[in-house]
Amino acid sequence: MSSHRVVVVGAGYVGLTTGACLASLGHQVVCVDTDAAKVAALSAGRVDIFEPQLTELVADGLSGTRLRFVTDVSSVDIQPDVVLLCLPTPMSADGRADVSQLESVAVGLRDTLPRDCAVVIKSTVPVGTAARLAELIGRPDVAVVSNPEFLREGSAVRDFLRPERIVIGSDDRAAAERVAGLYAAVDAPVVVTDVASAELAKYAANCFLAMKLSYVNEIADLCDRLGADVTAVTATMGHDSRIGAAFLRPGPGWGGPCLPKDTAAMLYSARSSGVDLSLVRAAVDDNARRSGRVADRVRGALGGRLDGARIGVYGLAFKAGTNDLRGSPALAVAGLLAGAGAELVGYDPSVPQDVPGVTDMLTVCADPYQAAKGADAVVLLTEWPLFRALDWSMVAELMSGSTIVDTRNHLDADLLASAGLVCRSTGRPGAGVRRERSR
Ligand code: UGA
Repeated sequence: MSSHRVVVVGAGYVGLTTGACLASLGHQVVCVDTDAAKVAALSAGRVDIFEPQLTELVADGLSGTRLRFVTDVSSVDIQPDVVLLCLPTPMSADGRADVSQLESVAVGLRDTLPRDCAVVIKSTVPVGTAARLAELIGRPDVAVVSNPEFLREGSAVRDFLRPERIVIGSDDRAAAERVAGLYAAVDAPVVVTDVASAELAKYAANCFLAMKLSYVNEIADLCDRLGADVTAVTATMGHDSRIGAAFLRPGPGWGGPCLPKDTAAMLYSARSSGVDLSLVRAAVDDNARRSGRVADRVRGALGGRLDGARIGVYGLAFKAGTNDLRGSPALAVAGLLAGAGAELVGYDPSVPQDVPGVTDMLTVCADPYQAAKGADAVVLLTEWPLFRALDWSMVAELMSGSTIVDTRNHLDADLLASAGLVCRSTGRPGAGVRRERSR
């Protein structure tokens, strides 16, 4: 495998994972990030993202000198043959993806890129962005390639090194082959296509996942009304390979830094093109109502009164396996409960006690038992494995009430019942799913 000289612009979630993983595959990588404190920390091997294997990969890259961090493109001392752009594309007020950071970097690259270098967009960007960057760079020898990243937080390194697919969109064959060469050691199907299709593929995938989740959340609502068990319903659906078993767990709504932003951007871009993506719109609308429904369920469990109630909140991150609070459904629910006058005491294994933006709506404790102390009810919002393994008899003793609202069907309702607690699962009015029999 030939090794490439790679510059990664942006050392956030995607950029840092990309840089560390490409270095581990034998490429020479320099990551550029304007945040001097971050660059200093990363250069010393300190990673502040909660992500399995990432710290180790960064340490390996630094010690093998295949990975370095700098604050400025002008301090890059390799002649890159590939530059990967891993910059944020935040949501604007009208829903569109703001690609201005990519645009200004592209302008800055115009005079610094070596001849025949390929510029690769890894960020999630609307169709037309690669063409726009090519125009801004304005160099016939420099191709702009779309190679969106599909990694998930919490399994970023594994997803990068063992992806389910790689998509490379380019109108320049040689550039596409060079980008494919970055992944020569990675065993995955590669879809080589035009730029627009690659750009759209990422949005289409994330919007499909969002629709799948909203559908499951609505099926859980129906199960609650009709007396069916969503766990059995989704287990049955998941055995159909056309549907697949993943992404079928109901919850307090889907969130995080990507799905909400990408559904909004896809809707904006479809609307601007005169296409109505009614299914995506319905998924977004349903999701916007989810936190209210969870708050209503907690209110119902407390006999209709939230004002003055003390509620334990289990989980704050947008999903387990990450310390990311961006777009967290847990915080949306907590905001509604606090707004209705409840006193909230929360715990999340990845969230420190003094994290900004959280402490004004709840007190964060150092352990889950403290969060249960004196609580009229506990609501589980993030599916951390440790919550399953709690000493529920101790939780029952500490609480003043006895209801646990489990928004993710993460807990063993029978175990909680034996500890004297009432577990209100989601879409499982009778609880107690019978185990699937193996033949
Ligand atoms: C998502 C996509 O899954 C990645 O493929 C994509 O690369 C990434 O966005 C991105 O665009 O960068 P991520 O934001 O890490 O990844 O989060 P997911 O694992 O997709 O979870 C999103 C939300 O769905 C979370 O709130 C999670 O709790 C929820 N979820 C997920 C459920 O409620 N039920 C499930 O069964 C699965």
